[in-house]
Amino acid sequence: MPTAPRILMTRPDHYGVTYAINPWMTPESWAGNQTVALAEAATQWQALADALGAVGFALEILPGQPGLPDMVFPANAAIVFDGIALVARFRHPERQGEEAHFHAAFEALRQRGLLSAVHSLPEGVFQEGAGDCLWDASRQLFFAAHGPRSSRASIEVIAETFGQEIVRLELVDPRFYHLDTCFCVLPGGEVLTFTPALSTASLERLRAVVAPEMLIEADFAAASAFSINAVAHGREVVMANPPASLRALLEERGYHVHGLELGRFMQSGGGSYCMTLRLDRRARAAVRATA
Ligand code: ARG
Repeated sequence: MPTAPRILMTRPDHYGVTYAINPWMTPESWAGNQTVALAEAATQWQALADALGAVGFALEILPGQPGLPDMVFPANAAIVFDGIALVARFRHPERQGEEAHFHAAFEALRQRGLLSAVHSLPEGVFQEGAGDCLWDASRQLFFAAHGPRSSRASIEVIAETFGQEIVRLELVDPRFYHLDTCFCVLPGGEVLTFTPALSTASLERLRAVVAPEMLIEADFAAASAFSINAVAHGREVVMANPPASLRALLEERGYHVHGLELGRFMQSGGGSYCMTLRLDRRARAAVRATA
């Protein structure tokens, strides 16, 4: 029986921009009119949840926690694959308090039979979840990044935990501090990316696995609009309002773009993918084995 692809989101009840841990965050811009800002964020969050539901995702919704505004970005909570959640270890103290809450949430999902195991990273190895580790279902491999947030040593842990091929990518621009800010794997196997955010050697590794016609190079306008930070299902792509050029590129390839106003989350350095976590990703062989 086919089941709907499943996404985790966190309600924005305690969202805000109260500290700055990436170059997009300016707490001053949020502080002035917090009630208005929070109301707008709630509207934008709901529009994203509605769009994801409309394109066919089942949603699991967690409550937010006071004092942890960035819990609204569960892409960073874990890598979830083959029923295993490898819970994140955050680089910045501001986000480390999220780990225990997400750990408990994954444990609850395990008890409901939606996951089979919950793992932790070794002490001192930072890894910020699916934000820095994107599954490529067409090629059956992970693109995993290290740089401003995740440690280089996390790559080995991901390899041992999931036993899948990994293409290691190094992030070199502090504005694109998570891989998902500059990299998206589309369901047709196209990779949409802002290449200047990757090291030269990483770009070579990427080109070794992705054919030129499958590599869609986005420009800075698309990256800074957080449009590359997209969630796709079939031919449907949900993203922060893209520049017309990116919309055209995707439509030429047969995708249907759902552009959303997500400005309140871009103030924190996030877009639609950051606000989601896929729970149902599996290796093809594992799917066959359980079918
Ligand atoms: N303010 C958050 C941070 O800097 C934003 C996280 C965005 N998430 C993502 N997967 N890119 O950690």
